[in-house]
Amino acid sequence: MKEGFNTKVGAIAAAAGSAVGLGNMWRFPYVTGENGGAAFLIVYVAFTLLIAMPALLAEFAIGRMTGKPVTSALLELAPKKKWFLIGFMGVFCSFLIISFYSVVSGWILYYTWLSASGGLAGLGEAEVAEAFSRVSGSPAASVFWMVLMVAVIALIVSRGVAKGIEKWSKILMPVLLVLILVMCVRSLTLDGAAEGLKFLLSPDFSKLTPKALFAALGQSFFSLSTGIGVMATYGAYISRDQSLSADALSVAMLDFFIAFLAGVMIFPCAFAFGINPGSGPGLVFVTLPNIFNQMAFGSFFAFIFFLLLVVAALTSCFSMLEALVAFGVASLGLSRKRSTVIMTAFVLLGGTCCAVFPAVFNLFDNLSANVILPIGAFCIVLFVPLVIGKERYRAELEAHGGKFGSFEIVYFLTRFVVPLAIFLIFANSLLSWLGVDLFG
Ligand code: PHE
Repeated sequence: MKEGFNTKVGAIAAAAGSAVGLGNMWRFPYVTGENGGAAFLIVYVAFTLLIAMPALLAEFAIGRMTGKPVTSALLELAPKKKWFLIGFMGVFCSFLIISFYSVVSGWILYYTWLSASGGLAGLGEAEVAEAFSRVSGSPAASVFWMVLMVAVIALIVSRGVAKGIEKWSKILMPVLLVLILVMCVRSLTLDGAAEGLKFLLSPDFSKLTPKALFAALGQSFFSLSTGIGVMATYGAYISRDQSLSADALSVAMLDFFIAFLAGVMIFPCAFAFGINPGSGPGLVFVTLPNIFNQMAFGSFFAFIFFLLLVVAALTSCFSMLEALVAFGVASLGLSRKRSTVIMTAFVLLGGTCCAVFPAVFNLFDNLSANVILPIGAFCIVLFVPLVIGKERYRAELEAHGGKFGSFEIVYFLTRFVVPLAIFLIFANSLLSWLGVDLFG
């Protein structure tokens, strides 16, 4: 039986579940903190709408036109050309991302357990930092929690697209929304919360350096899961009577809304307790537990917070594992069961390498987000004008029988604006990788 989403809401929940992840809850707040707050937020919204969303739409369309996962879809649409290599690269990149992502998710699971069992309560600052290095610095502990996390993901994905991914996304996404709203109310009712809101809402454009612009662009791709064909694979599961442009808009809006709420949850908290919001990736693991410890019912809120992160990470991991499993079925001729077992074994191997060797963790992280993701997105958007063509693309976007009023604008963005913008971020990250810093 061909895999597919059963309902419209389910398709949106699954795709939004992929988009909403650690990118929103962990990366977005610290990147926004480091780049000056509100002004960064405005640019991020613009990039999400004008750049990442057209790329997302192109992925959905490529998947749905063929009903196949990314590599096979590209091969079917351009049989004599080498475009399918982009699909391979994307699948490989899903493997890289899920490898380090599942290690971070494992740490989060450990923190959830720690806060539920009272292990975080009453710790001093040094002890909280020590708790983090106890897990992140210990290969055995990191592997243990990563394996637990991967086991849950594999169990759900093995049930199939509708019965596993769709069903669980429909349950977990509303849970996520409730949990984040609880956290926002707590954060906004702290004394001194207004400072944090001001940071998020009143822009200081002097902070908007070219580097911040690039950070916003990279963040918008990562956050919408575009550039590696994961969304093309999901596109293959979307029914033809659904409007892809409406779906892409819903996913982008939900993704942004949740990133914004993550800001509302974290900045007032940080300001109320006098903590610098630009304190980097450790914000979630070291800074926030300290804040919770100073709060009434802190252990309870710490538990809710980490549970929220686990939920967000789970639904993103579904999409990456599914991209691998679908590739195994369509390109390697494996049965779905067998593909799930084999791909899970690869993820466990990749995750173990990331947990044991910090250098591998950093390599996978940098290679995927800064190199493969922009190259992949660049090729996928160019695939639309160069292979699919304007009228066929329009026909796919209007296949549900409705008219897509903004088609001309979106096509213009897809053809010119998005590739140019991606070229710019890519060139910048490549240069800074090579040690050349154009913008300081
Ligand atoms: N969008 C996810 C997040 O924000 C990360 C992700 C990237 C997932 C690429 C799948 C593919 O956390």
